[in-house]
Amino acid sequence: MEIVIVPDAAAGGELIASAIAELVTRKPDALVGVATGSTPLPIYTALTAKVAGGLDVTRVRICQLDEYVGLPAGHPESYRSTVIRQVVEPLGLSEGSFIGPDGTAADVAAEAIAYDHALAEAGGVDFQILGIGTDGHIGFNEPCSSLASRTRIKTLTDQTRIDNARFFEDDIEQVPHHVITQGIGTILEARHVVLLATGANKADAVAATVEGPLSALVPASALQLHPHATVVVDEAAAAGLKLADYFRATYAAKPSWQSI
Ligand code: GLP
Repeated sequence: MEIVIVPDAAAGGELIASAIAELVTRKPDALVGVATGSTPLPIYTALTAKVAGGLDVTRVRICQLDEYVGLPAGHPESYRSTVIRQVVEPLGLSEGSFIGPDGTAADVAAEAIAYDHALAEAGGVDFQILGIGTDGHIGFNEPCSSLASRTRIKTLTDQTRIDNARFFEDDIEQVPHHVITQGIGTILEARHVVLLATGANKADAVAATVEGPLSALVPASALQLHPHATVVVDEAAAAGLKLADYFRATYAAKPSWQSI
């Protein structure tokens, strides 16, 4: 696992967008998995700027990490609507270049399995962007999710519903209890997994992810098993890392030609 400590969220966004740009230049039809929440927004802003500057993303494909169950189709806070608004439209892509699970499906369990298969049929995810919950969740894999889990329905913890209530008029009652999320085993199949964490409220989760034991209690710690996982953190989110100086030194000494 590579840990990169950046000065602020914008620098993290720029670093990750640059890695995506390199990937797309090498593989124009790359499948890029996107996360929702506030944290990845600087990545999408930086990537949109690169497109305005001439980066060709016309063949890029986008896939969703997770989705709320039961929000009506077109609800502005469904992750489908969010990804279209924050990623697909700003990059000038069509909705046909985008796949995600249908949170309104009558048979949610079957929909989750079908989405897991759709990712494989699409050739697998080349680059998966992740945020992290304050409880260490990735996607919506809450603590004690199986580290081998596949895409499936999950029930959100109260903490996650409280954290996400800000997207629902600060009303926890409007936050769905159930979600479809790529499983941890599914996420680990992406060729490159990049987690961005910013802000002091993520410091404990980051420390447990990077320096704690591999544990289902901290789902993001599963990234320790991935051969190409990158954790990008700002100074505030890095505050709990015992090896911060080592991470800074190794990144500073990295050859300039080598991307994350
Ligand atoms: C939700 C999403 C996660 C995201 C998390 C953190 O739970 N399912 O993918 O990482 O929120 O969101 P934020 O970046 O806003 O803190």
